[in-house]
Amino acid sequence: MLEQPMLDVQATYVPSVIYRPILPSDLDVLEQIHAKLFPIRYEREFFLNVVNGHGIVSWAAVDIGLNSQSDELIGFVTTRVIAAHDSEIEDLLTSDASRKDATLVYILTLGVVERYRNHGIAGSLVREVTKYASSMTNCRAVYLHVIAYNQPAINFYQKMQFKLIRKLHKFYYIKGRHYDAYLFVYYVNGGRSPCSPLDVLSTAATYIKGLLKLLATKLWKKAEKKSPRWSKCKESSTLLLTQNKRIIGSDNTICQCV
Ligand SMILES: CC(C)(COP(=O)(O)OP(=O)(O)OC[C@H]1O[C@@H](n2cnc3c(N)ncnc32)[C@H](O)[C@@H]1OP(=O)(O)O)[C@@H](O)C(=O)NCCC(=O)NCCS
Repeated sequence: MLEQPMLDVQATYVPSVIYRPILPSDLDVLEQIHAKLFPIRYEREFFLNVVNGHGIVSWAAVDIGLNSQSDELIGFVTTRVIAAHDSEIEDLLTSDASRKDATLVYILTLGVVERYRNHGIAGSLVREVTKYASSMTNCRAVYLHVIAYNQPAINFYQKMQFKLIRKLHKFYYIKGRHYDAYLFVYYVNGGRSPCSPLDVLSTAATYIKGLLKLLATKLWKKAEKKSPRWSKCKESSTLLLTQNKRIIGSDNTICQCV
């Protein structure tokens, strides 16, 4: 008799997810999930502020189960609305963002319980945030920091069309060690400066890249005319190496509109 294949419940389970504000009844689970997902410990006060909506705007992803009778917290996003002129990204915004009432939404924490990942849950949570930010006419952007080694989160925010704006050297200090961070921004309500310093940098980088290419071609042609064969190869590989370095450098450059 043929053996029946085992059913992988985990792989076939499709959660019934709803999104709602985080409630006081979520307090303990929210704290437990944060402890599991993040290397930083958050104070009890932070969670109390989240569940009571004190200065923090948040959304929960909840699995309500097949019969809609469950209420299991499986994901969350917590944010704070801040004044644009107090922020570190003021220079990247349209000039009207320096108005007193211009605001930004800063994402404090975002997380999805491991077994619920890659179902688009974080995507839906972040869309709630961008919708909320867009609905406030004085809001100019949503922004956040990601620790430099958190590749899943970096992939995620890039997929969500956030722009990687800059790398912040030693931004985090965790358990006696420094870590770099990336700053991501999602502009809303025309918040992006038409000619931000990044645009200028990016244009300059493209121009210099073109110039170097031209120089490399000229040098190559010159070497081709003058040098014996072995010397020509040496020259070309040096140039190629220099070009590769630039390409790698410019792909990974942090101060670049992505
Ligand atoms: C980052 C995180 C919130 C994504 O949650 P999620 O619900 O799985 O995200 P979604 O399903 O909406 O999107 C998945 C996308 O994110 C990226 N991604 C998510 N998990 C990934 C992983 N383990 N490895 C690589 N990429 C990953 C992929 O680009 C994927 O895109 P795809 O759908 O085209 O494959 C989740 O991995 C998490 O909770 N991580 C721990 C906490 C954290 O790092 N939070 C972010 C910093 S505050």
